[in-house]
Amino acid sequence: MNSPATYTTGSGAVHAYPGDRPVTRQVLVWDRFVRFFHWSLAASILLVALNSNLPQWLHEGLGYFTLALVAARLLWGFVGRGHARFADFVPGPRRLINYLRDLLHGREQRHLGHNPAAALMILFLLAMVAAIGVTGWLLTTDAYWGDETMETLHLTLVNTTLLAVAIHVGAAIYESLRHKENLILAMFTGKKRANPPSHTLSRNTKDRSESFLAP
Ligand code: HEM
Ligand code: HEM
Repeated sequence: MNSPATYTTGSGAVHAYPGDRPVTRQVLVWDRFVRFFHWSLAASILLVALNSNLPQWLHEGLGYFTLALVAARLLWGFVGRGHARFADFVPGPRRLINYLRDLLHGREQRHLGHNPAAALMILFLLAMVAAIGVTGWLLTTDAYWGDETMETLHLTLVNTTLLAVAIHVGAAIYESLRHKENLILAMFTGKKRANPPSHTLSRNTKDRSESFLAP
């Protein structure tokens, strides 16, 4: 019997036997709720933040909608399955520092779910969207109606979020290039390239988060 050749994919060294056809198995990583949540959140925020001519009822309506989305996502982070769960992707300090160090050295591992740096940005974006919604609501109350400090805070939170979103998108494109897979498309289809079975990987190239939702 022929001995296997070893080749390296974006996610590690894999042994192949002559005659093997390359197989790129896809697995469902982002469930339907996560995909709906992500694109309706992104569309609503960008529509309101980049369009100052929106009627106030639509501005407020979309603002409350984003608050509801964030609340639902927080709940889903505890009751959902697989990579939607916070327990799957929120890193501890050590894992975060290790990942950032690897990132700086250009040797960060591919993650099937959110990587630790993405997770940090995700928590930040969720908190910012919640704060924008709350300050916006406060501007409609008797206590803060017309309050300049609150208006400035509302606007500053919006601008900071837009900056963070630019970094978020840049990072998604960067990681897509690094690991040769379209992460933005994956947020639409929910599917990503499966990790090779762990026994085919060398110890140093093992992907984290080997689990995935059943397709
Ligand atoms: C206001 C705009 C946006 C906000 C607030 C936002 C927020 C988020 C959040 C909260 C997640 C985590 C999804 C989850 O697990 O539920 C996420 C993931 C993601 N977002 Fe966005 N996003 C925005 C815009 C965009 C845009 C415009 C793109 C690309 C064109 C994008 C690409 C992605 C990708 C690829 C992921 C998955 C990252 C990964 O693989 O770890 N986002 N985003
Ligand atoms: C998606 C979340 C939100 C974003 C991105 C956002 C964005 C903005 C921006 C860019 C402005 C300044 C320019 C303008 O009037 O359009 C603003 C002002 C304001 N927002 Fe929001 N907002 C959001 C949510 C909310 C919510 C939930 C409310 C209230 C229920 C609200 C109430 C207001 C009020 C009262 C003003 C001041 C309008 C004025 O007197 O000029 N916003 N917001």
